Formats: sequence, structure tokens, C-alpha cells
Amino acid sequence: MRVSVIGCGYLGAVHAAAMAELGHDVVGIDVDSEKIAMLENGQPPFFEPDLPEILSRAHESGRLTFSTDITLVADCDVHFIGVGTPQLPHSDAADMQYVEAAFEGLSQHMRPDAVIVGKSTVPVGTAQELANKLQAIHPNASLIWNPEFLREGFAVKDTLEPDRVVYGLSAKELESGDRARSLQVLDDVYKQILATGTPRLVTDYATAELVKVSANAFLATKISFINAMAEIAEATGADVTQLADAIGLDERIGRRFLNAGVGFGGGCLPKDIRALIARAEELGVGRSVTFLREVDDINSRRRERVVELATEVLGGSLNGKRVAVLGLTFKPNSDDVRDSPALDVAVRLKGLGADVVATDPQGIPNAEQRHPQINYELSTEKALQSADLVLLVTEWDEYKQLDPTFVGSLVREKNLIDGRNALVPVQWSLAEWNYFGLGR
Ligand code: UDX
Repeated sequence: MRVSVIGCGYLGAVHAAAMAELGHDVVGIDVDSEKIAMLENGQPPFFEPDLPEILSRAHESGRLTFSTDITLVADCDVHFIGVGTPQLPHSDAADMQYVEAAFEGLSQHMRPDAVIVGKSTVPVGTAQELANKLQAIHPNASLIWNPEFLREGFAVKDTLEPDRVVYGLSAKELESGDRARSLQVLDDVYKQILATGTPRLVTDYATAELVKVSANAFLATKISFINAMAEIAEATGADVTQLADAIGLDERIGRRFLNAGVGFGGGCLPKDIRALIARAEELGVGRSVTFLREVDDINSRRRERVVELATEVLGGSLNGKRVAVLGLTFKPNSDDVRDSPALDVAVRLKGLGADVVATDPQGIPNAEQRHPQINYELSTEKALQSADLVLLVTEWDEYKQLDPTFVGSLVREKNLIDGRNALVPVQWSLAEWNYFGLGR
């Protein structure tokens, strides 16, 4: 099939390469010419495990091209919209300008009977609105909403081996059941994925849109729940990691996404819960998700707590104290610093007078662009040199494997805050470190 993917960010670039991997002829379109130039050269514009390999395979096969020229969508059968929906600057709501521009461009240049597949995370109601517009311009075209659940760091695997695929159909197409045209076309696109038994759920538009945001809201709630328990644990001397292990063994709860620490960040969870609150309020059902405000607040308090703890550990003032910050990205195996708790904490410590030296295996270029006031150091060893406090805020494997004795020989004071509860406390205590976890 001939496929276009509009938007070549974390979602779109991976999706385009994955569609070529499935054997389709793909054109990836983005307005960012620098990004497109890199992708055209087979170079990923961001760090994502396995992406370089599938990009270069696709490149060699000649099945994948990238361009800034939207008119190239003209001969495609299927168009994926994978542009971003970031939070608006002065509101909780999502900024829909990129989705609107993508739709606009497509509707002008697409074949009149092509299928548009929405993948971006959007406020519920968007698909119906776009479908109405599409119907007026191209009555023979169709729109299907197919949310994307990929996690950064596992984006390629999540795209090619998803837990489930969700198809949101128009009311009219829903009536046709398995004969619905957009469903058949998407089944064809995903043939290999579906052949492995991946569950496929067919819903209306609103449900498909909500599956995505409610999944993220649930995950955020799970993390804030355990972080709330961390606050209680801190007040009582209990250990939140043992608590998580114990409750996580209950199959109904499950241990995943119960890691307490500095909280969640990234380009999805924080903005998706806020956008859901904003949309629910618009719909007059804001009360149904007021708890998500609390989820967001608990999450913010974790960042404050780390800064507070750092100040306590350093005797009440950060002024002139050297703090080695290990990690800048919002999670390991990514170079993404959007709404990153790690970067936020580093910036706050710097603002309070600390001499911050921050390091990260992948995140420095992105962090530097946003916050040039911080001192960045690529070498972990150099970052640790003469530190009064070591602060682990992103649990990269290489930080988890640090040797307490060796690190002890580099620093000035053996103070360690494990903002992700990623280390084994006893190993650090035995090497005479003052170890502080969160909620333990
Ligand atoms: C998330 C969803 O998982 C994914 O399905 C959706 O498509 C996009 O949003 P992602 O943002 O890549 O994916 O990261 P995720 O692995 O969910 O982690 C989000 C944040 O939560 C990270 O900052 C992570 O460190 C934090 N987290 C995660 C915790 O603090 N504790 C946990 O137990 C798990």
C-alpha cells in the first residue's frame, strides 16, 4: 500500500519507519526541514532504541522517503495523522493547530477516496468534527481513529507489537460491521500485526479517543497513588518500595507503574491529564475528573520534595553547594526532556544557589537548549567530581550500576538522594554513604 504519515516526531517518524518495515511504500511529511533532512539521510532526529536499524532497512529498501512537500500525499491510499497536540501555553487544553493544519493539507491534496487515520492524542469529539469536514469536501473518503499507545524507549516494539489496536469508526461505518471500508483498509495495512493475534477493538470515535486519554490518566493516577503513599511512608518511617511490592502482588493491582519517586513527566502523561480535565469541563462533566487535579498536584509535590530534601541534607542552604544531578530526561532510554522532573529539579536547585553539574547519556543537547544556565557534563565521572550531594533523578542503567566505593572516591561529601528508588540502599550505606530514598 501507499501510505503517508503526517508529522515526523516521536510518534510519526517511528510509525513511518514501522509501516515501511511492514512492506508499505511510505512518505513521511513534516514542516521541520531540518528533521526531514536528517530522516532522508537515514538518521533519526531523536534517540530511540531500534529506530536507527529499521530506518536504515527502510532506507535501503527504497520504500521510505521523507519530505516537507505535502502534495506528495496525492497518490497515497492511506494517510496517518501523527502530529503533536502539546499543551497550550496559558491553558490546560491541547493545542490543536497541528492537527488542523495536517487535516487542511491532506484534504487539499489527497485522492478523494483515500482513508485518513488519526493517531494523534486529541480531545474527545475531534474525530467527529474532522469527519464532518471531510464528508463535506470528499464524500467518498473516510476517517478512522486509531490511537497510538507507544512508550518512548520502546516505541518501535510498541508500534510493531502493540498490546491492542483500537479502531474508532463513524456511526455509518459501524453499521457496516466488518465490511466497513476504513476498517478493511486498516486491517490490510496492519495485516502482519493482526496475524499474530493482537486484539483489535472496534468502537465509535469518542470511545477510541477516550481509550487513549483514559489509559494515560489511569497510569498517571497509579503513579500519583504510590507517590501519595510515599508521603505517608515518609511521615511514618514505612518503606514505599516494600509497600508497592506487597500490594503489587495482588493481581488486581499489579506491580507495574507503582514506582514512587520524583514523579511522572514527558510529552504525554502530564499534558494528557490536563487536556482531559479541560475537555471534561467544556463538556460540563469536570467533576468526574477533579481527582486528576490532585494526581497532578501530588506529582508536582514530588519535585518540591526532592528540592526540600536536598536542602535539608546540605544543612539548610544550597548556596555554593555542588550538586551532581544524574539524569535529565523524563525517563531512561530517551533523549526527551519535555516536562522532565529531572530537568525541573536541576533548574530549581540552580535557582536556589546550588552549583549544579548535570549529566545524562542522551538528554544534554535538548536540556541545554531549554536551560543554558545549567552546567552540563557528558562524563558521569566528571559530573560527580567534588560533589557535596549526588542526586539520581533518571534511572539509566549506567547510574544503577555505579559502584558506591568508586563514586565515594570522587565526591567531597557522601550524600546521595535516590529520586527514583532505583538503587539498593544497603550497598550505599555499607560504603558509608548517607542514602536518602523517596518514601523509604
Ligand atoms: C506514556 C504511556 O505509557 C504510553 O502508553 C503513551 O502512548 C504515551 O505516554 P511515555 O510518556 O513514553 O508513555 O512514558 P512512560 O513509560 O509511561 O512513563 C511516563 C513517566 O512516568 C516517566 O517520567 C516515568 O519515569 C514515570 N513513571 C513511570 C514513574 O514515575 N513511576 C512508574 O512506576 C512508572
